[in-house]
Amino acid sequence: MGIKLGILGLGTVGTGTVELLSDGTGRHPLLSEIEIYRVGVRSLDKPRQVTLPDSVITTDLESIVTDPQVDIVVELMGGLEPARSLILKAIQCGKHVVTANKAVISRFGDEIFTAANQAGVYVMLEAAVGGGIPVVRPLKQSLSVNRINTVTGIVNGTTNYILTRMRSEGGNFDDVLADAQRLGYAEADPTADVDGLDAADKIAILASLAFDGRIKLEDVYCEGIRQVSKTDIAYADKLGFVIKLLAIAHQDNLSAPLSVRVHPTLVPTDHPLASINGVYNAILVEGEPIGQVMFFGPGAGAGATASAVCSDILNLVAELKLSTENANPLLTCRHHDYSQIAPIEELVTRFYARFLTKDQPGVIGKLGTCFGKYGVSLESVVQTGFQGELAEIVVVTHDVREGDFRQALAEIRSLDPIHSIPSLLRVL
Ligand code: NAP
Ligand code: HSE
Repeated sequence: MGIKLGILGLGTVGTGTVELLSDGTGRHPLLSEIEIYRVGVRSLDKPRQVTLPDSVITTDLESIVTDPQVDIVVELMGGLEPARSLILKAIQCGKHVVTANKAVISRFGDEIFTAANQAGVYVMLEAAVGGGIPVVRPLKQSLSVNRINTVTGIVNGTTNYILTRMRSEGGNFDDVLADAQRLGYAEADPTADVDGLDAADKIAILASLAFDGRIKLEDVYCEGIRQVSKTDIAYADKLGFVIKLLAIAHQDNLSAPLSVRVHPTLVPTDHPLASINGVYNAILVEGEPIGQVMFFGPGAGAGATASAVCSDILNLVAELKLSTENANPLLTCRHHDYSQIAPIEELVTRFYARFLTKDQPGVIGKLGTCFGKYGVSLESVVQTGFQGELAEIVVVTHDVREGDFRQALAEIRSLDPIHSIPSLLRVL
């Protein structure tokens, strides 16, 4: 029997989720047990990127969350109401919930999780922070034996994009924001992003998971990036910093109160978060005994966010199947056949090679001719100096099939002026 989903919302993330669930080839086999049973939208007349039977789509979202056939409600509509009420109604009706809605969770998490615990259902929220980046489950499970002392995140792609462009182009905030809106990176109303409110929602959720306590959103200190000028960015650069909108949750020691805050911050250029540019997100978690661990990836977008939503759905499907099967399909080893591995000769890559040769005319020409014979094209050739009597020549190739490159080298080794090839490295 399939697991029936009731999806609320068919916008960016809803569409990405339906597309991913409808294209199971090469993905986890549990996906084939999921049925997109009902989908709720605001308007039936809007053109959609995905085709679903008319009987599946409805504007009556309440009828989805109360439908006894629906096993899991997937809330991808956003906003506070009616999202909050529909999530609570789904829980009341005994359904597990998956949501990407950080605004609802950061404000009403207390009410929602209390209701879910009472009803014996799960509310899953991997997509609510960091889009496609797995960070919620790592904090809840993989890292939970650590004493976490700091979570530092670049968790808002819009502001990171604006600050990155202000730095690379020397542009001012208003111009870069206008351009980001034109390109679709920033929303028409950018308030939630540029004033740090979206990042505050996300760090409230991360802090709650990392430090095992509920967080009141009003306790999160929040400053946005409107006051960051190109002059500040230029000075920061000169001093060895980049300016990033950081969301930070920190605890000095186990009995100290938490500090949870969002503000533009000068980050040393050698800090792991300094090189996170554009719309990307990253979350650095520090704890004992793990030390530092960083999660990096796309913080938004249809496909990336759908990846997080569907991983939550898969975990709930596995949970539901446990009642009828005696092994968790996500924990057991599910494959039996050996994978086909390509031989190294078939690898296509660039190579760096260093040759020691006799110092005589025509050596570089001979190298080039021999490489050419085997279809190896050279990106650069430099004679770097001498080692004793021998000349040192360094070659970087274009992409080449490793087998062809090795054939060329075998012939080159036999050439009279070639003394040795002390280094051979692949280039990314
Ligand atoms: P979206 O494109 O605006 O889509 C919202 C969908 O919900 C639309 O299909 C809309 O119906 C439906 N909807 C909204 N209010 C409704 C109502 N009152 N009744 C019925 N249907 C309603 O939003 P999105 O970007 O997919 O975001 C969805 C959620 O994911 C939000 O919580 C957001 O914060 C979160 N999220 C988004 C991203 C991202 O990259 N976009 C990343 C991470 C998390 P119509 O289509 O008929 O208008
Ligand atoms: N508006 C968010 C951002 C994406 O710019 O990162 C959804 O969380």
